[in-house]
Amino acid sequence: ATVFVLNGPNLNLLGTREPHIYGHHTLTDVEALCQQHASRHGLALRFHQSNHEGTLVDWIHEAGALHRESQLAGVVLNAAAYTHTSVALLDAIKATGVPLVELHISNVHAREPFRQHSYLSAAARAVMCGFGVAGYGLAIDAIAAWQAADA
Ligand code: DQA
Repeated sequence: ATVFVLNGPNLNLLGTREPHIYGHHTLTDVEALCQQHASRHGLALRFHQSNHEGTLVDWIHEAGALHRESQLAGVVLNAAAYTHTSVALLDAIKATGVPLVELHISNVHAREPFRQHSYLSAAARAVMCGFGVAGYGLAIDAIAAWQAADA
């Protein structure tokens, strides 16, 4: 089975972007971490980043196609700022029914009020924030555990 890890806008700048909030690890580091965790569970990894909302929608549709064939373990989505704006991403998650972890590197609840509402949480199977980039590995571990439980 495959696990998708999808990253939204500005996450390509990880490592140099507001490091006091997001830390010093780059997105390449995050991909390596995800690969380690996916391999440990025997999962194939698809890891992507886009600054474009529609591209993220397309990837959720691709995950949905695998889901229909029982080939999808789950999706880790850090939609970044689109979390707080995107009905299109909410609808994509609902339309495909993919098991999804909504992830944020920072603790969004300790930040500006506009970050404390997510359009996506209502359709997510789980929501996590504030674990730093380590959260990505934890999310993949959780998805692997869901798989084992569902099998
Ligand atoms: C983020 C939190 C969002 O509010 C923000 O827009 C991001 C990153 C996080 O990973 O902490 O770009 O999703």
